Amino acid sequence: MENESVIKNYELVDDNIIDNTIRPESIEEYVGQNDVKENIKVFVEAAKMRNEPLDHVLLYGPPGLGKTTLAFIIAHELGTKIKTASGPSIEKSGDLAAILSTLDPGDVLFIDEIHRMPRYIEEILYPAMEDFSLDIIIGSEGNSRNIKIDLPPFTLVGATTRAGDLSSPLRDRFGIISKLQYYTIEELTAIIKRTSRVLDMPISDEAALELAKRSRGTPRIANRLFKRVRDFAMVKKLKEIDLETTSEALDRLKIDKIGLDNTDHELLLAIINKFNGGPVGIEAISSSIGEEVTTIEDVYEPYLLQAGLLKRTARGRVVTDKAYEVLGISKVKKE
Ligand SMILES: Nc1ncnc2c1ncn2[C@@H]1O[C@H](COP(=O)(O)OP(=O)(O)OP(=O)(O)O)[C@@H](O)[C@H]1O
Ligand SMILES: [Mg+2]
Repeated sequence: MENESVIKNYELVDDNIIDNTIRPESIEEYVGQNDVKENIKVFVEAAKMRNEPLDHVLLYGPPGLGKTTLAFIIAHELGTKIKTASGPSIEKSGDLAAILSTLDPGDVLFIDEIHRMPRYIEEILYPAMEDFSLDIIIGSEGNSRNIKIDLPPFTLVGATTRAGDLSSPLRDRFGIISKLQYYTIEELTAIIKRTSRVLDMPISDEAALELAKRSRGTPRIANRLFKRVRDFAMVKKLKEIDLETTSEALDRLKIDKIGLDNTDHELLLAIINKFNGGPVGIEAISSSIGEEVTTIEDVYEPYLLQAGLLKRTARGRVVTDKAYEVLGISKVKKE
């Protein structure tokens, strides 16, 4: 239906505009990740004192925890510009050369999904990271020559959900490697309060807490759920989002009391019902619930592991007693 897709697109545009307005710009506004933040503050200040570019930074961790946001904040704190690219979009050496040639001294080059960059691009990137020079081959076969281009000193900030997929020579060229962690309930509450201020829609303390508890440790989810709860509150003509509306909205969105969604439930239930609680291999889980192995590994599993609902053993994934409890299923082991 044409109408429906127009509405969907409109919603997307609206959500994107909102995302840019609620994204914190300075390190002071960036909630949580205290160790990472403290280190970055020190390294940025030292780089500025030496009048040198900041060492290259690798940020890794599950989706929605604030890697892209932090990359922009690093450039903001350095007082430089940021250019962005994504790993899979850099296909040819010329693509990389084109991006690098637009940099001014001290600028940040942000490469998102850096683990998906082609291997031969990585190899051109090594000297660029180390000596700020680019060796590329131009011309066609039989009539090609090597040229060396000097680059301005710059800082590469790479982001990835899978640090393990990076080749070790690439990983070794990052001077600063930071892992982002899931956020605590208190931190998520602070993020929700901030979003409420920026979007000018008040929320009660207890409602913010409820939302935080059900956000899967993830700011992106907290903000997304805030927007949906706000819709319910607006339709009810409330001046402030209250606990009742929040619980009602989240129940309708099928987000459970501890923030698990439908897919989380499906995953845990599949292991319990079809594999007797595990151990079971990731491929079997994948085909049983129809989600890609990488999606399970990057998006679903990290939170379930951290929440203590799932365990990884040498023989495969195992559902914990806590998971049975949370799902309200009694544990009857089939022999
Ligand atoms: N520390 C934080 N404080 C406040 N808001 C945050 C913080 N981290 C993230 N956010 C909010 O969450 C949203 C998602 O963050 P971001 O896009 O940076 O995540 P990401 O780690 O890059 O995710 P992906 O792996 O999917 O690229 C941002 O738009 C921002 O509004
Ligand atoms: Mg990102």
